[in-house]
Amino acid sequence: MKNLFVKTSKPYDVKIGAGEINNLADYIKQVKNCNKIAIITDDVVGGLYGKKIKDILCDYDVCYHEFLHGEGHKTMDTVSSLLEFLAQNKLTRSDLVVALGGGIAGDVAGFVSASFLRGIDFVQIPTTLLSMVDSSVGGKTGVNLSCGKNLAGAFHQPCLVVCDPDFLATLPDEEFKNGLGEVIKYGCISDKNLFDLLATQDVHANLEEVIYTCIKIKADFVEQDEFDKGERQKLNFGHTLGHAVEKVTDFKIPHGQAVGVGMKLICQWAENQNLTAKGCADKIDGMLAKYNMVRDVNCDKKLLWQTVTNDKKLKGKQIDLVLIKDIADCILYRTNIDDLTK
Ligand code: GLY
Repeated sequence: MKNLFVKTSKPYDVKIGAGEINNLADYIKQVKNCNKIAIITDDVVGGLYGKKIKDILCDYDVCYHEFLHGEGHKTMDTVSSLLEFLAQNKLTRSDLVVALGGGIAGDVAGFVSASFLRGIDFVQIPTTLLSMVDSSVGGKTGVNLSCGKNLAGAFHQPCLVVCDPDFLATLPDEEFKNGLGEVIKYGCISDKNLFDLLATQDVHANLEEVIYTCIKIKADFVEQDEFDKGERQKLNFGHTLGHAVEKVTDFKIPHGQAVGVGMKLICQWAENQNLTAKGCADKIDGMLAKYNMVRDVNCDKKLLWQTVTNDKKLKGKQIDLVLIKDIADCILYRTNIDDLTK
């Protein structure tokens, strides 16, 4: 087992290792003296692991709620039902919420925990690669509004994260690739060894090490800039164009894979501007090819940039981009939107 201590305003441990979920009750005892636990998950993950988690927590007074899976249910309606569920079960601030599932379950249950009684402690149990390496750590919680994704939310750090790669045994291949987009991102922005390992070896053979490395990188950025005012924005490498790729394909290319394409395209643009070392875009493309991921989007690149500039809150005509000067050397770069279509 590996332990990472995340030094945010409310610090917490991330326990990483195969089979670690079986120690959940002991880990909870170390962080909170509570009687009642509310498990929140979606119907898919609940069907796979709900009973197992209830059994592991059998010494507690457990209540359990599943909401319907999918981005379409990451809404205020779901939040509202979950708040009612916590109230009906008479949870107090001395009790605990356990968020079980992928990014959506973690974001929704985290937001509910941030709002219920003005804040109740919660534990993240990520079950997808994406949620293990990204959304379960760092305290960003929230839901979508009809105008856009993640428009309502709160910073609310978990009191514990238990990250057990055994959950990935039931993860569909497409979902695994979704997480891989973010894994490759960590190599690009911060860790050449990770990038080389991903390029030369099989990620599956090194999964626990890779997950640990990614969470460590994420925790470093979050510790420097918990409330996302500067340095943490580097975690969004590939996301500006990635979001545009999601949008122009009507979300047929899922988030993590869109980020993969976004990283390659931003490097192509930045190489043309002599801001990124020549060859980075090709290295990323080689990585996407190696893992059978989406490598490009079939549309005029000007349309992608228009989508970006329509979408983003611009500072006048200025836009802040996340670039790499080279693999593992990331910068924030402010430019004029007219330069984007050059
Ligand atoms: N997913 C990016 C962040 O947590 O800041």
